[in-house]
Amino acid sequence: MSTRKQIILGAYLGGVNHHTAWWDERAGSQIDFSTFEHTARTAERGKFDFFFLAEGLALRERAGQVFDQDIVGRPDTLPVLASIAAVTTHLGLAGTINATFNEPYELARQFASLDHLSGGRAAWNVVTSFDAFTGQNFRRGGFLDRAQRYERAEEFIATVRELWDSWDEGDLVADKETGTFLRRSDAGSFRHAGPQFDIHGRFTVPRSPQGRPVLLQAGVSPQGRDFAAANADAIFSPYGQLPEAADFYRDVKARVVAAGRSADDVKILPSAGFVIGDTAAEAREKYEEVRRGQVTGQTALILLEQVWNRDLSAYDPEGPLPDVEPDADAPQIIQGKAFTFQDRFETVAKWRQVAETKNLNLRELVIDQFERGPFVGTASEIAAQIDDFVQNDGSDGLIIGSHLVPWGLDDFVDQVVPLLQERGSLRADYTGSTLRNNLGLPAVRSTELV
Ligand SMILES: Cc1cc2nc3c(=O)[nH]c(=O)nc-3n(C[C@H](O)[C@H](O)[C@H](O)COP(=O)(O)O)c2cc1C
Repeated sequence: MSTRKQIILGAYLGGVNHHTAWWDERAGSQIDFSTFEHTARTAERGKFDFFFLAEGLALRERAGQVFDQDIVGRPDTLPVLASIAAVTTHLGLAGTINATFNEPYELARQFASLDHLSGGRAAWNVVTSFDAFTGQNFRRGGFLDRAQRYERAEEFIATVRELWDSWDEGDLVADKETGTFLRRSDAGSFRHAGPQFDIHGRFTVPRSPQGRPVLLQAGVSPQGRDFAAANADAIFSPYGQLPEAADFYRDVKARVVAAGRSADDVKILPSAGFVIGDTAAEAREKYEEVRRGQVTGQTALILLEQVWNRDLSAYDPEGPLPDVEPDADAPQIIQGKAFTFQDRFETVAKWRQVAETKNLNLRELVIDQFERGPFVGTASEIAAQIDDFVQNDGSDGLIIGSHLVPWGLDDFVDQVVPLLQERGSLRADYTGSTLRNNLGLPAVRSTELV
């Protein structure tokens, strides 16, 4: 039995953005079922733990104009996951849904239903949504600031758990001989009275195969980290490169232990991209070509504007970084994009230093800093890079997306997966029937239930 840390793998399929090669003649639709189906089947062939969808609830805008590419490619998460459940058998199904604009009863029901339909493969990536602009699409509007969004999320999760736990394993008897349908007449009863939610009634979905669907979290502020440490089974992280990745890993695992859990109970999974070549030089060339196609001069300026919060259109993308400071107080110029930088001024200072040290112009800096991963090289170099990253506690695994939708993941599965398996870092087959088992997470025991 190998003692190497086993790498967790998720497969990511996003909308059309600066990680997509939408112009490539082989690129398919980001919204057809066939795209989701092909990606999911490929991920399952590679024994990936789960398929993962992010959530975008508003078309992104720059100074009031929609980003063209954002118009396609963000169907609603739950129907997509339910349809993938029907064409796969072991792959986990992880959906990002925010806790700000939904209600606990509704989401608890949807995820418990997905867990039933998929035989125990459902996972919910809890996000708190990020801006009032997105909130405008909802009845409540942009009604909570960040700290309050986490307060709501905290009580949301507690309430959802109460709903999932309102049914115990043996409650649905349906014994034709004795005529007993329910073991206890109050199965599914719940009552929650708190500052955010005051609800009571009966929960309509009997206990699902995982007891509780797996919980992921994405959000990196101190509140976000504490929230994840207390509640999540895994974290979708933006830190795919050392040393930030290792700092995040150490920090979060310490918070998990401080929350009274075992460090291993919360898995850390950064998003990652890859480019494979037959030789290292070919891979590097292919990578430069893909990144320059993805990050055009105009895209580079838009990505920087998110941090500067200023109109930077007068700057030359092939020139130096803007010499002005960010404008933290102006209305947001870029709307609808998750802002994962904690401090504009610190980020700009760091980028200026990176640009100087690596001698990068504006566009090259964006290519460098807005990268996922990147794992670039021959298949064996990529396998080694990923393995070293995980074994050195950069993470517990990766959520991998390909720039070429839906075919790109095939190369990873055909070429890199067997090498990771040979290294003893990736299991050759699924070990359990539920996602919770496959991730090596502690089972939810009946005794924990009400
Ligand atoms: C890696 C990562 C991925 C995220 N993905 C999404 C997403 O798909 N949909 C969404 O609404 N918010 C997403 N968010 C935003 C978070 O929900 C959160 O609102 C935001 O990060 C602010 O919280 P924080 O200050 O704790 O980071 C993501 C955040 C991170 C760090």
